[in-house]
Order: sequence, then structure tokens, then C-alpha cells
Amino acid sequence: MKEIRTIEFKDDILYLIDQRKLPGKYEIFQCRDYRDVDFAIKDMVVRGAPAIGATAAYGVVLAAREFLTEEKDSFFTKMEEALNTLNNSRPTAVNLMWAIKRMKDLIEENKELSVESIYEEIKKEADIIFTEDIETNKSMAKHGNEIIGKGYTILTHCNTGALATVGYGTALGVVREAHYTGKDIFVYADETRPRLQGGRLTAWELVQEEIPSKLIADNVAATLIRDGEIDVILVGADRIATNGDTANKIGTFMLSVIAKAYNVPFYIVAPTTTIDFDIETGKEIEIEERDASEVTHIDGVRIAPEGIEVYNPAFDVTPWENISGIITEKGIVRAPYKENILSLRR
Ligand code: MRU
Repeated sequence: MKEIRTIEFKDDILYLIDQRKLPGKYEIFQCRDYRDVDFAIKDMVVRGAPAIGATAAYGVVLAAREFLTEEKDSFFTKMEEALNTLNNSRPTAVNLMWAIKRMKDLIEENKELSVESIYEEIKKEADIIFTEDIETNKSMAKHGNEIIGKGYTILTHCNTGALATVGYGTALGVVREAHYTGKDIFVYADETRPRLQGGRLTAWELVQEEIPSKLIADNVAATLIRDGEIDVILVGADRIATNGDTANKIGTFMLSVIAKAYNVPFYIVAPTTTIDFDIETGKEIEIEERDASEVTHIDGVRIAPEGIEVYNPAFDVTPWENISGIITEKGIVRAPYKENILSLRR
């Protein structure tokens, strides 16, 4: 198995694989302060809910490092500003807010310590978030593999692999596990317009790992599902409400409707850090709208006429009724979601 290092923190620099450039170029983007991290999340140098969370945690480390020589009061004021900036870098993936809150609570618990010691604690915590993410993904992969039969054909959407996490992946982590445990699987990867995370990133990971697969235009999925070519659909999540409604990459909802119409199992694979225990339904999830140029241009080349207006939501919400189960690191959660999701709270 090839190891993909999406995020690496060394000598006070955060190194990120620049996902805007893949698969054409493999380049590393360096973040030297929290403003670079804010930019990297906003501009999607790094993307995918768990990867954004871990990246933001190191953004907090870089902020604390920058303000190390400040008086304590000023340190807290500047940290507050940095935490708010990072918290607002993208709105939908709750792993970001989860990581920032974890750091905020840690700073509060250690406020009597010296600035130097608080910095040390923050750095330790970011390393824990980093390590936990890989462990969580591996355990989700094991649970998920239980529902994968020998010779299954799996359909997936967006990129949920090592690139979307610290390592291994969520839905693509289950695919990896199934492949390496000899399940003899085949994968169809949606290209995922408009940012093409499937065509550029999932396809890149599948090729790296030599997992038997084909890339399809998003419009092909319905035909494959109707024709009985798909055994299971596995997707990730950016935010899950306590009733099971799930926000994920735009197009996920449409897939879930088709899956339900043709009785194809539709699973979400996500760590419990993607559950927003503060909201009851998907209606409360803020859906990010991104720049029109993502739709009017491909690789900088205009494909739509000047003057056309664009609607470009980056995510949609799949209602719990369309979801067969949510695969987490603690096991597979099924309906009744409300009861079963709340029991996952740490
Ligand atoms: O806009 P992106 O690329 O950050 O969206 C990513 C997704 O929607 C993924 O499916 C989701 O974050 C889960 S990936 C582990």
C-alpha cells in the first residue's frame, strides 16, 4: 500500500499536498503562519472534512508559535482572533469547528500556565488529532468491510480517500480495506463536477493503489444503478445532524434518491467527529456556495458564455430516510438514527 502524506507538520511548517494541482503536478504547499492555513482551507489546497479539521488544528499551533513572545493578555486576544479566522475558513464541514473548539477548550483549561507551556499543550493536542484520525479511519474501514461482499461493485462520489483525511480515508478507506483483504471489488468513481474531486483525486488514489476501477461522468451513475451494476454506494460526510440527515458533496442527494428507487444500499462513512450533536436536522446545516468560476471554467478555460448567472452550492443534504447506515469508528449506526446517533456521544 502506498502512503499518501496529505498533511505533515515539521519544524514549525505545515506541509500540504496541493490538491488544486493534482493529478497534473505533485506539489507541496507550505503554511508558515495561520493566515496561510486559512488561505489553504478556503482555496481548497486541502479539502475533505477530516483533513480540514487536522489542518486547522496545526493552524492553531502556528498561531501560538507566532504569539509566543506576547504578554499573556495579548497572547489570548491574538489567539482568539486566529481561532475565529480559522473557524470561518469554510462553513459546512463540522470537523473544522470541532477541531477549533477542542483547541479553544484546551487553551481555557490551561490558561494559568505560561504562554510557552500553553503552546506545548496545543502542539501535543494537534499531534493527537492527527494520529487519532488515522486510527479512526482504519477502524471505520474494518466495520465498513463487513458489509462488502466478495466481488462487489462499489460506486463512490467526490474524494474521501487519504487526501480528504490525515490518511487512509473514510468511504475510500473501506474500499482500500476491501481491496487489501481480497474481496475482489470493482469501483466506479463519479468525476464530481464542478471541482472534479472524483476525476482528479479519487482517480489518482485508485491508480496509485492499483484498485480495479473506472471513472464515470456523474450522469452515468443512474444508468449503472438501474441496470443492477452497483452492489453498494459508499460516500463520506461533511456534517451529520442527530436525526441522520447528512451533508456531503453536491450530487450525493441525487445518488441517494436513485439508490432508494432501485433498492441499492446507500452508506455514509464518517467519523463521529463529523456528527454535529448540536443540531437536530439537516435544515440547520449551512451549505457553502462557491465561486461561479468553478462552473463557468475548467482549468482556467471558460466553457460558459460571459454574462450567465451561476448557482454553485458545494454540498447538499441527504435525508436520513435514504441512508441504509452510517459507518463510524464505533460501528455501523442504523435507524432509528436519533436514538442511535445520540448514544455515540463521547
Ligand atoms: O469540498 P470538499 O472537497 O472539501 O468536499 C469533500 C466532501 O464532500 C467529502 O465527501 C467529505 O468531506 C468527506 S471526505 C472524508
